[in-house]
Amino acid sequence: MTNLAIQANGLVKTFGNNRAVDGVDLKIPTGSICGVLGPNGAGKTTTINMLATLSKPDAGSAKIFGYDVMKETQKVRQLIGLTGQFASIDETLTAMENLMIFGRLHGYSRKDAKRKANELLEEFALTEAANKALSQFSGGMRRRLDLAASLLSNPPLIFLDEPTTGLDPRTRTQMWSTIRNLVKNGSTVMLTTQYLDEADQLADSIVVIDKGRVVANDTPDGLKKSVGETSLQITVKSADSVLDAAQIIERILKTKVQISESSELTAPMNNTNKLTDILTALKEVGITLTNVNLRQPTLDEVFFALTGNTEVKEEN
Ligand SMILES: Nc1ncnc2c1ncn2[C@@H]1O[C@H](COP(=O)(O)OP(=O)(O)O)[C@@H](O)[C@H]1O
Ligand SMILES: [Mg+2]
Repeated sequence: MTNLAIQANGLVKTFGNNRAVDGVDLKIPTGSICGVLGPNGAGKTTTINMLATLSKPDAGSAKIFGYDVMKETQKVRQLIGLTGQFASIDETLTAMENLMIFGRLHGYSRKDAKRKANELLEEFALTEAANKALSQFSGGMRRRLDLAASLLSNPPLIFLDEPTTGLDPRTRTQMWSTIRNLVKNGSTVMLTTQYLDEADQLADSIVVIDKGRVVANDTPDGLKKSVGETSLQITVKSADSVLDAAQIIERILKTKVQISESSELTAPMNNTNKLTDILTALKEVGITLTNVNLRQPTLDEVFFALTGNTEVKEEN
């Protein structure tokens, strides 16, 4: 017996001399949403593919509800649903026809497949589009249908690989509520995302990966505490005073300050009340500012706060 939906130890996957996944450990409790956050190329999809038995780890091991992904592949496959970054669905058929095919593949009778398909179309607000060919579907509708298809077998663990990348804000919000409903019904969800706010909105725990390694594993609140909920941006008038200004901000916020090529200073900020202290201290030493801005930190800044590394994108 295990109450862990996912347990991974030292997972490694290399492509040539690229260690795409470089020793990933995971412990995801049953019934929770785990958000895997990381930039493009971090190794999110490769990790999911190994957990979902689509690709074999070069080293390490993983268990899904206690079943080994390499030794008990068939058992694991019965327990998971996987939604790809790209819908794996037939363009020329209607939404209903696609779902019927998936249902039949999962061993439902015609009647049961139809009932289940109708339920899912309703749940994903696709009832009106049920008889439209997929070629007429918008990106958001496709994503929802793809997700619906992966739920036909009622899998206890669902992998969602960037379910909202490229969706407009309204469709993203709809997708979020769909995902929350899945977990209400007892499923465990692992979803990958490039968006900090998405992981924050949905996840019980967030695993941050960068260059194939886990650089943080925390609750959304814990993560926000460590990287700052708000990001401070300051531009000084004279380029000569950039370093002095950075030092002053670092002293007050007790955190590293990032300096961009255009001499803009950025730092995570947990306590926005400190803004007054910073402005006063800069004024005292005669540093003039041309811009001050508070906003949500970007993924880049999260990585900087966690790794001290500004280069988050793999260039290759
Ligand atoms: N089939 C593959 N063959 C060669 N390299 C790959 C393959 N799949 C992924 N990679 C490389 O592995 C790294 C991680 O990729 P991926 O897991 O897709 O990242 P993410 O999903 O976080 O964007 C990248 O450098 C990518 O180019
Ligand atoms: Mg990916």
